[in-house]
Amino acid sequence: MAHFTKATSIKDWLDQRLAVEKLEKVMASEYWIPKNINFLWAMGMVLVITFALLLVSGIFLLMYYQPNVDTAFYSVNYTIMREVDFGWLWRHIHGVAASVVFLIIYIHMFTGIYYGSYKKGREMIWVSGMLLFVAFSAEAFSGYMLPWGQMSYWAGMVITNLFSGGSLHADGLVEWIRGDYVPAQAFLTRFFMLHVLLVPLAIMGLIGLHFGALRIPHVNNQDGEEIDFDVEAKKYLAGDTKGSKVMRFANDFMSKDMMVVGVYLVLFFYLVFYNYGFAMDPVNFDPADGLKTPAHIYPEWYFLWSYEILRPFPKDPGLIAFGFLIDTILLEFAQITKSLISLSFAQSPPPITLPALHVANRV
Ligand code: HEM
Repeated sequence: MAHFTKATSIKDWLDQRLAVEKLEKVMASEYWIPKNINFLWAMGMVLVITFALLLVSGIFLLMYYQPNVDTAFYSVNYTIMREVDFGWLWRHIHGVAASVVFLIIYIHMFTGIYYGSYKKGREMIWVSGMLLFVAFSAEAFSGYMLPWGQMSYWAGMVITNLFSGGSLHADGLVEWIRGDYVPAQAFLTRFFMLHVLLVPLAIMGLIGLHFGALRIPHVNNQDGEEIDFDVEAKKYLAGDTKGSKVMRFANDFMSKDMMVVGVYLVLFFYLVFYNYGFAMDPVNFDPADGLKTPAHIYPEWYFLWSYEILRPFPKDPGLIAFGFLIDTILLEFAQITKSLISLSFAQSPPPITLPALHVANRV
């Protein structure tokens, strides 16, 4: 049993039981951040804030939403939008955040690619980030089903159809996923469960993993400089705060993060109050009708790239092309982008590792 003494303060009492002081050091006051990073490194914090906005607005929406094929559409478009005080505000926050979060994720990913933040010891940050991207995509898709409008229904039909037939002959798979022959009550109920419980839980776990993966290698920096964090931290703690190449996460770097978050929130709430239309598809303001196919079925802007990959191919090659691309982004896209950039500037470029190019070289 550990040795306990009479506590001198609440902090001391907690410290003896939960080591809060050590935790605070590891996560904040002695979590060392390189000085040579720019505002793009604040995107991680912007993502955390956007996720919090999604969570809070989602909880308020959940108080009135009804996961029932007969009432879902009206619970959103009538009850929440017209009857509940400020229901429209929570819906617009949720809708705008769902769209904007992908913009920030894409900026965050391309920052990581451009500065090579996935390399040498930072691979797990990249892999956990990619898993977060997949989880966010599942969260966005399942959420899109919930208003049970025309686009919800037909997007659900098109995407689940990817699992029908094909040369694998996975007969019955699509019915198993839908719980019916077409999207109906079972489909809505399970996507509701995914959206409000399973996927958010997975996202929270993955955010924990992502942060854990950052702690040992530390964040990269814009010059790609190899920093000895222990040496630089010692310098800082010895009083040479100017000469040291690092600074504390809290409150030093966090105050810079908060500056970027502040500017972001002004833009975010401008969109929520004056320009929310871009996050709402007009076709989804018609209730779902399985007998009336909309003239065009298309995804939100953030899925257009995947949609365009699947569209020109029949099902099998389309899925193979999609899998190939995801695999490439997951592990190798970063490498080729960096290689192409250095090809145009450097004498001897690093090897390009995209699988397709290996094949091309062999031919
Ligand atoms: C949506 C959830 C996400 C959250 C909340 C999140 C949060 C963070 C935070 C707070 C940081 C440290 C500060 C920064 O560099 O911005 C970070 C770094 C990083 N994240 Fe994410 N991230 C998310 C998604 C992703 C995705 C989708 C990827 C890419 C696949 C990714 C890849 C990285 C990389 C490579 C770093 C290290 C940056 C460096 O060392 O320079 N993250 N993330």
